[in-house]
Amino acid sequence: MLLQPHQRKKLDDTDDAFFYDYPRLVTHVDSGFIQRLTDLYRQYLQSEDSILDLMSSWVSHLPDEIQFKQVIGHGLNAEELAKNPRLDEFFLQNLNQDLKLPYGDSIFDAVLIAVSVQYLQYPEAIFSEIHRILKPKGVVIVSFSNRMFYQKAIQAWRDSTDSQRVQLVQSYIHSIIGLSTPEVIVDQSPQSALLSWLGVGGRDPFFALVARREETLPP
Ligand SMILES: C[S@@+](CC[C@H](N)C(=O)[O-])C[C@H]1O[C@@H](n2cnc3c(N)ncnc32)[C@H](O)[C@@H]1O
Repeated sequence: MLLQPHQRKKLDDTDDAFFYDYPRLVTHVDSGFIQRLTDLYRQYLQSEDSILDLMSSWVSHLPDEIQFKQVIGHGLNAEELAKNPRLDEFFLQNLNQDLKLPYGDSIFDAVLIAVSVQYLQYPEAIFSEIHRILKPKGVVIVSFSNRMFYQKAIQAWRDSTDSQRVQLVQSYIHSIIGLSTPEVIVDQSPQSALLSWLGVGGRDPFFALVARREETLPP
């Protein structure tokens, strides 16, 4: 098993939908992180892509200049998602209660999870679904920093260092046959890591993992 039952636990184990009941029209990371993420999206996404922005909100961090075929958003708060200018449509679904994504096989060119993977209690099920709905060669991009709603992050995340979190997401991806070994992008200056550890500012560290759905299943 990828995670032990206790590692999936949250300090606040009430329904996540309650926590996201009211809209939070804030940015969860600093402008440097967002710029880094937008640049990464620019590198991997193409116009005419069909994109699923999982665990989204009122912003998607997609490059303004690229017109995609469609961008579908997902989250837990309709008011936040309705304000997101990049979404053509959106749906609400608690991914810790309903682990199946409402799409057929091989639909999307890209699936994104920005600064939210720490809230998934059954990541292997969700990454299996991501693999299923991605087209062959489609890309999944998972990004995160060191901020979180602590009471809503799973124990495995709370108890980990930044580099252990990278390994954790790597293990989520590795657990799915048919997703490639992820490329890992880390942008964390030693000075900002120290300042952030001391709680006196510094830039938000940037971590991202990029994997593709392989064209054919391994024998
Ligand atoms: C920190 S926000 C990040 C939003 C957005 N991706 C961004 O970059 O600003 C975390 C998001 O995770 C989503 N989320 C948290 N728990 C969830 C759950 N159990 N099921 C589905 N979505 C969840 C919420 O919708 C929330 O908007």
